[in-house]
Amino acid sequence: MDIKKIIESLIQKACKNLGYENKEVVCSFSNRPELCDFQCNYAMVNCKSLGKAPFDVAEEIINELNKEENDLFIFSAVRPGFINIKLTDVAFSKIANDLLSDENLGIQKNDVKRKIIIDYGGANVAKELHVGHLRSPIIGESLKRLCKLLGDEVISDVHLGDYGLQMGLTVLQLEEDGLLDYYFGKSNEKIEITLSMLNSAYPKASKRKKEDEEFRKKADLYTLYIQQKKEPYLTIYKEIRSKSVEQIKKNYEDLNATFDLWLGESDASEYTDRTVKLFIDKGLTRESEGSLIVDVAREGEHIPIPKKSPDEVQRYENPMPPAIIKKYNGSDLYATTDIATILMRNETYNPDEIIYIVDSRQNQHFEQVFRCCKMAGISPENQKLTFIGFGTMNGKDGKPFKTRDGGLIKLEDIINLLKDKASEKLKSNGVEQDDDNMALKIGVAAMKFGDLSNNVLKDYVFDIDKFLSFEGKTGPYLQYTLVRIASIKRKIEAKASEIVIDNDDERRIIISLLKLISSYGICYKDKSLNLLCLSSYELASSFSTFYNNHKILTENDENKRNSYLALCDLVYKELALALNVLAIDVVDRM
Ligand code: ARG
Repeated sequence: MDIKKIIESLIQKACKNLGYENKEVVCSFSNRPELCDFQCNYAMVNCKSLGKAPFDVAEEIINELNKEENDLFIFSAVRPGFINIKLTDVAFSKIANDLLSDENLGIQKNDVKRKIIIDYGGANVAKELHVGHLRSPIIGESLKRLCKLLGDEVISDVHLGDYGLQMGLTVLQLEEDGLLDYYFGKSNEKIEITLSMLNSAYPKASKRKKEDEEFRKKADLYTLYIQQKKEPYLTIYKEIRSKSVEQIKKNYEDLNATFDLWLGESDASEYTDRTVKLFIDKGLTRESEGSLIVDVAREGEHIPIPKKSPDEVQRYENPMPPAIIKKYNGSDLYATTDIATILMRNETYNPDEIIYIVDSRQNQHFEQVFRCCKMAGISPENQKLTFIGFGTMNGKDGKPFKTRDGGLIKLEDIINLLKDKASEKLKSNGVEQDDDNMALKIGVAAMKFGDLSNNVLKDYVFDIDKFLSFEGKTGPYLQYTLVRIASIKRKIEAKASEIVIDNDDERRIIISLLKLISSYGICYKDKSLNLLCLSSYELASSFSTFYNNHKILTENDENKRNSYLALCDLVYKELALALNVLAIDVVDRM
């Protein structure tokens, strides 16, 4: 039973009976909950075209509505012309019982089932994951779960960065450090490539590349060799990749991010030559300084701003530089693999939409890639290519979160920090921890909720103490609410029973539940989870008030007690589902 739709159709019918224009009737949750549960401003919006005062219109509608008997709603007209709708306890109880018996818990599936690929994670092989890699798996995992819940077929792909210059740099550095002699036939003794070797090789090489032109050129060459599958570079690369993926998997596991496909840029290598040929054949490419480029700018974009002096750098109005699809030395670039990956995905899965969850600073890259794909017909016209560029996680100083000496913080260190802080907290609350996992689950919940409760596009401040609080708008508070309800459920066996709503605390719970349920569709449209976080919190908070004001376990009236327990059960199910979409784990104790 979609209560909002029922109210809307009743008002719509009343308007029709009154001979009013057939304008859409929209009602919404009340922003004055002390007065009513829903409100409708049809009269305010349409009074002008009806040539009447808004209050008169509202009153006429109310009179019309009251002609028919109903035991679910109390309608009233209020100045200047609102229609207020209060639910009766019959309605509240009916909503509660309907939800409890609905296997979808009231959640409306989408009308059309779509096939979506979500590209998130995006860890780079041979580089350690750092703080910049935190948001994509958090947001992507939740968005995936949300789309699935609403009925879409979703394929998640981690799209590892495993084909770029970092590969050549790492191999070269390891070689120079004398660790690859075996592979180059200079020694019989094989030195196992370890994670710690990789963790130190890349930063070293990356620094050197900036100072040493020779070194960078050689790394370019090694990257090309890997892309050309030349030995021993390919074998070394494969070992580096598999070692690195072990660590990446562990990091993502800790964050509860799971993927259907563990593909990377390199998996599109079979498609890159075809991709480039497609662009050449269609006459979409030109050569520039030895590279092959595709002009993607449209009218009014990428217009050179006249230089004031010859040695000034060239600047552009509405910059939209061309996409580079072959480097001077013939190797493939980030744009090439992304375009080829779309070709591969379309030939393999033919999705209705591909969604990318990547740092907002890559906006231009994706704009170029998407334009290329549309120009070359790689992406059919009706396919949506969506870039969700998330904001930065900042420190308390409002600047991107860094270590004290300005370096990037490793993802693993953040996860450990969250875990340790959560563990301390549990200890100080006297909660016994039988394993590490509990602290990890709470720490990660804190992080996820802190992240997802902001609009995806916005920057936010990483405030670990605030995130980890067991009270207020936090992940641990939601976990705590579930722990509480679970403990009630453990103490008394719930009997299948009817929920009878008869007090304000319970009414508030039902409204919170309805808001939570309606938030799924809104989050789906917005591709942001913030409203789901807020609505989950509001439900938890409504429950807490109810819990404090009513003696659930010691209630003598058996019917009442059973109704309370059934309501607890409903709240538990809805909240657990919301946490599942947020990819936050439930814990046993807190
Ligand atoms: N590896 C990339 C990075 O670290 C992110 C990958 C995003 N996905 C994509 N299809 N390009 O910046």
